[in-house]
Formats: sequence, structure tokens, C-alpha cells
Amino acid sequence: SPPAIIAPSILSADFAELGKACSDTMGQGADWLHVDIMDGHFVPNMTFGAPVVTKIRPHVDRPTGAYGRGTFDCHMMIAEPKRWVRDFQKAGCDLYCFHYEAALSSTAADTPSGTSTSQTSPKELIRFIHELGMQAGIAIKPKTSVDVLWEILENPVVEERPDMVLVMTVEPGFGGQSFMASELPKVSALRKKYPDLHIEVDGGLSEKTIDQAAGAGANVIVAGSAVFGAKDPVEVIAKLRDAVEG
Ligand code: DX5
Ligand code: ZN
Repeated sequence: SPPAIIAPSILSADFAELGKACSDTMGQGADWLHVDIMDGHFVPNMTFGAPVVTKIRPHVDRPTGAYGRGTFDCHMMIAEPKRWVRDFQKAGCDLYCFHYEAALSSTAADTPSGTSTSQTSPKELIRFIHELGMQAGIAIKPKTSVDVLWEILENPVVEERPDMVLVMTVEPGFGGQSFMASELPKVSALRKKYPDLHIEVDGGLSEKTIDQAAGAGANVIVAGSAVFGAKDPVEVIAKLRDAVEG
């Protein structure tokens, strides 16, 4: 099964010192940087967009290959995921993870006029992300059944298949919420069918909840408050990694 990947969420970092926070967390043992993009529509909170990603990107060395150290894992909690793919690619995003729930109702505004309003299916969006040279992730909220993913994962067209699935373990929108163990059967079901798939969990992960998540089969671990609120982030990141590696 795939390696342990620890992805601190910079949502809990000091936004006034974001570049430094990013380089610090990498120096403390992080593998990826989890970058939470919220638009105030898909979720009831806002963060920042591509211009901020462009400015923090030089503070972290680019990964040398897919899934490598320094991967910018952009979690797109936004209503129109197709619309922002190009901007985020230019900003230095390596893995563009959109929400299944948003893809269904998204408008395709990537035309020069920006007026096209065709629906975007997850597989079309995944293909588009791949065409721009990024990895593609698909996220599901707690109320979304894992069953919506089987058809997408079983697609015989490899360019239209996701590289990662993100199972939310809180309702997206805010850091520091309580971990929902109720979501772990989704992780187990995915891991059983796909031994090599990158499965990410996000929300409420800490030294207290990591064993459950790792036991279910998650290998990409997002942690915001647990890392940025820690006295010793090096120790927390190491403990998260040890739990996944078993
Ligand atoms: C929540 C975000 C998470 C958040 C996690 O909507 O997607 O990435 O930063 O924060 P913690 O780890 O504090 O639950
Ligand atoms: Zn996130």
C-alpha cells in the first residue's frame, strides 16, 4: 500500500507569516502542504485564492515527481472547480482536489469569453486537470455516500481516473472541529478495493484519532490545528507518520 504522507493544513497557520509558516512546517518533517481554498459559497467560510498560492509557492521546494515532497495539495472547497484549474496550475498547485458535490453543478468558465455554462462531470474535470499536468483528487463530504465514487474509480480511461480520494472527517469549512469516526467505513471500503490508491483524510486528525484513521487504511493525513497548535510540531508529525507506517 502507498507510503505515509503527512500534509499539514496551513489553514491553522499565521496568515500574516504564511511563507515562513510553509517553509517551517516542511522543515519540521511535512511531506506535502495542504492548502485549503474556500469561496464562501460551497462552504460558509473564505480563505484565499491563486494569487496567495503564487506568493507562497517559492517558500517550498517543488516536488521532483508525482506525490513528492513539497507537493502543493490544493483542497478546492469551491462552487466552480473547473473555472480555477488554470489559475491554480499557474500558481504552482501540484494536486488539484475538487469536491464531487461541486463538480456536478459546476460551470465551465475556461473559455476565452468565460461564458460557457456546460456542466462538468467529475471525469471531464479529472481529464482537464491531467491535461494541465497536475494530479487530480476527488473529495467527498460526510453526507455523500462513498458509492458515488465506484464508477469514477473504475473508469477504464486512465486520464479520467483520480489519483487520490479525500474522505472528509468533518464538515468542510473550518479547522479545529471534532473528528467524525463515522466516516471511516468509507476509507475501509476504498482501501479494500484499491490497495494502491492514495486515500486522504481531513478534519480532526491528531495523535488521538490517527490510529483509527490509519487502521481504516488512510495514508495521506491532513492535520491543521494538531500541527500548528503544537508545542513540538516535529514530534506530532513524526507520531502521525509512525501511526500510518504501523
Ligand atoms: C476543513 C479543512 C481542513 C482543516 C483541518 O474544512 O478542509 O483542512 O484545516 O483542520 P483540523 O486539522 O484542525 O481539523
Ligand atoms: Zn482541507
